[in-house]
Amino acid sequence: MRTIIEPFRIKSVEPLHHTTPAQRQEILERAGYNLFLIDAANTLIDLLTDSGTSAMSTEQWAALMRGDESYAGSESYYRLKRAVEDLTGFRHVIPTHQGRAAERILFTCLCRRGHVVPNNTHFDTTRANIEFTGAEALDLPLEEARDTQSRLPFKGGMDAAALERVIAEHGRERIPLVMLTVTNNSGGGQPVSLANIEAVSGVARRHGIPFYLDACRFAENAWFIHQKEAGYQEWPPLEIAKKMFSLADGCTFSAKKDAFANIGGLLCTNDDSLARQEKDLLILTEGFPTYGGLAGRDLEAIAVGLQEVLHPDYLEYRIASTGYLGRHIADHGVPIVEPPGGHAIYIDAGRMLPHIPKEQFPAQSLAVELYRHAGVRSVEIGSVMFGSHARNELLRLAIPRRVYTQSHIDYVVEAILEINARKQELRGYEITAQPEFLRHFSCQFRAL
Ligand code: F0G
Repeated sequence: MRTIIEPFRIKSVEPLHHTTPAQRQEILERAGYNLFLIDAANTLIDLLTDSGTSAMSTEQWAALMRGDESYAGSESYYRLKRAVEDLTGFRHVIPTHQGRAAERILFTCLCRRGHVVPNNTHFDTTRANIEFTGAEALDLPLEEARDTQSRLPFKGGMDAAALERVIAEHGRERIPLVMLTVTNNSGGGQPVSLANIEAVSGVARRHGIPFYLDACRFAENAWFIHQKEAGYQEWPPLEIAKKMFSLADGCTFSAKKDAFANIGGLLCTNDDSLARQEKDLLILTEGFPTYGGLAGRDLEAIAVGLQEVLHPDYLEYRIASTGYLGRHIADHGVPIVEPPGGHAIYIDAGRMLPHIPKEQFPAQSLAVELYRHAGVRSVEIGSVMFGSHARNELLRLAIPRRVYTQSHIDYVVEAILEINARKQELRGYEITAQPEFLRHFSCQFRAL
């Protein structure tokens, strides 16, 4: 059979909420055209993020009942620790309430003013948490990723030669760690090859610099390697994931992505003295090291999710369904970051709307129009989110895991193609108010 089906059936459903275009115009005006400020109840299909929005499985819901809510040394913690150790091999497994809490603790321990942290591409909270320590967050994407239209299989990696140059220029003492984000979220959800992970790990280790994975979407990355990297077709995703982790000294992880959990994160390391410092900080703001800001039941959901996410039937469906959205809009003339990534499709709004200059946020304009036209919420990943660090003006359509069916996606395709047919009508925006950090979450816009 050629048809790839959803590898699940549905046991519990949630109604969707319809609104009219006139209502949505009013809602947009009230929200200052910032889609983060729109209520979920006024969103028909929510592609704002794939984070924390997954549908949990029957096994995960069942595991919640096993949650041991003891303050210290709970059974649930040890179940999670075993699941993470089996997968990653890391010696210290520190739960946190979500990925950015792991980032904050790691960077607080390692970074200070004058330091530089290289990454293939930092995501928003990662960059902000590094900059908050006074250090510099430096993106070193592959040169070939610059062209959004080239269909190379592994455009998410880091330029290892550029990393060598950065180390030579700044000196090893000013680089407290090197990070690699898998998959590369701000770079179009593009995967990183094992060859690239090996190369970057090799450079970092040769210079004695700790190498960390930002492992939010490790399973999707492993599936791309299984499908497209020479030599790995016979490797199950679990073995590929293990190999990815074996090349690193630690990781940060948001369990809200490739663990199907609605909340949770992890900070892992092989460094005993660093782990002690991290646990001290953890107690200060997150909680005791055997729960780290989570309920025991959350730890259970993550432990189960980490195993489910590596199932080949799930990953085949996941990557095929993201590709389905990508191909159906790109093959009808909407420029996307090619090839389709793992968790999301990124429309190249700079290319789609060349009449809107980047200072007027073309991807924000498209996000607003997609909401106004069809009630679909997406997110700008461009100059609003990253200011001068933005390489492209992208609109991300992130796909929650196991949540929407093919007909929901067909509706999204139809909406995008209708907007594409009258794209000349779209106009730019300007920002009228913004906070100091992470402005995209709360800034206000005015339509031009
Ligand atoms: N790293 C990456 C690559 C991410 O995509 C995210 C979150 C984080 C770290 C932080 O994790 O949300 O659990 O604190 N990305 C979400 C997104 C929010 O929409 O892409 P968190």
